[in-house]
Amino acid sequence: MNTVATFDQVRELVGASVGLVPTMGFFHEGHLSLIEAARRSTETVVVSIFVNPLQFGDSADLAAYPRDVGRDAVLAGSSGADVLFIPDVDTMYPKGSRTIVTVEGASASMEGAYRPGHFAGVATVVAKLFAGIQPDVAYFGRKDAQQLAVVRTMAADLSFPVEIDGLPIVREPDGLALSSRNVHLAREDRASALNLHNALFAAGDAFEAGERSVNALLEIARATIDVGAGIDINYIEAADASDASTVDRIDGPVFVAIAARIGNVRLIDSILLDPATERADRGTYIDNPSILYGGA
Ligand code: PAJ
Repeated sequence: MNTVATFDQVRELVGASVGLVPTMGFFHEGHLSLIEAARRSTETVVVSIFVNPLQFGDSADLAAYPRDVGRDAVLAGSSGADVLFIPDVDTMYPKGSRTIVTVEGASASMEGAYRPGHFAGVATVVAKLFAGIQPDVAYFGRKDAQQLAVVRTMAADLSFPVEIDGLPIVREPDGLALSSRNVHLAREDRASALNLHNALFAAGDAFEAGERSVNALLEIARATIDVGAGIDINYIEAADASDASTVDRIDGPVFVAIAARIGNVRLIDSILLDPATERADRGTYIDNPSILYGGA
């Protein structure tokens, strides 16, 4: 595996078909599942690590973002990466951030409402990665279901000739969606955090039993939450998986997303409901404690 810091260096190293996995590093099994998927279907696997200042509202949050490039390099290499692209801020934004990509509509609700400017930061950096690396396929996790919809919309609207592949959420053995933030959960908060996926799974069960009304599914999810558990729910909402537009009935792929604050940790999760298969995609589980907890 080669580690490089500029777009020119990446383009010199890539072959006929290029798979790109954009990340902000500090890998867990969710990230590694994307790298492994890229390895299975493309010739050159490029993994980018860039903690993108443009998508952080708060500079304290940006400064606190966990980083360990040495550990990430080992994990990326063993998962099948060929090129690890780690640009610095001056390489990504040499003239500051003059051109911003704003995806209207898809960015408005849910995470967009709670994190103003966040998706413009995401869309801008992903557009730059697509322009500079020119991947054939780019891999994203369905955990960030709205982000995936924003990226799909951006790539279609700006005519990037790239296929966007959304991959299942990877969950810890107890069902909690993997996130680097999980390490900050106190023991009692962790039990509360399990409400998130349980609420989504209840909606998934009802969907699989034939319910197609979004309101009814959201009611079922909300009724599942243990209100005494010290959870501050930001939202439970559903949206079209391709562009995050509002839906009343499930006629095509729809995601249900939840965000909540538990203690001082903010978590998100989602489930994908597909009427074509009549299945709810709950994601996959790892068997052992995550590498996040030091078992790498
Ligand atoms: P980051 O949070 O590092 O996530 C990188 C990719 O990993 C995203 O596509 C995310 O959806 C996916 N991912 C995270 N947790 C996952 C899980 N438990 N299961 C499956 N996939 C998971 O998302 C970003 O970085 C940034 O916003 C980025 C797209 C790189 C733009 O800066």
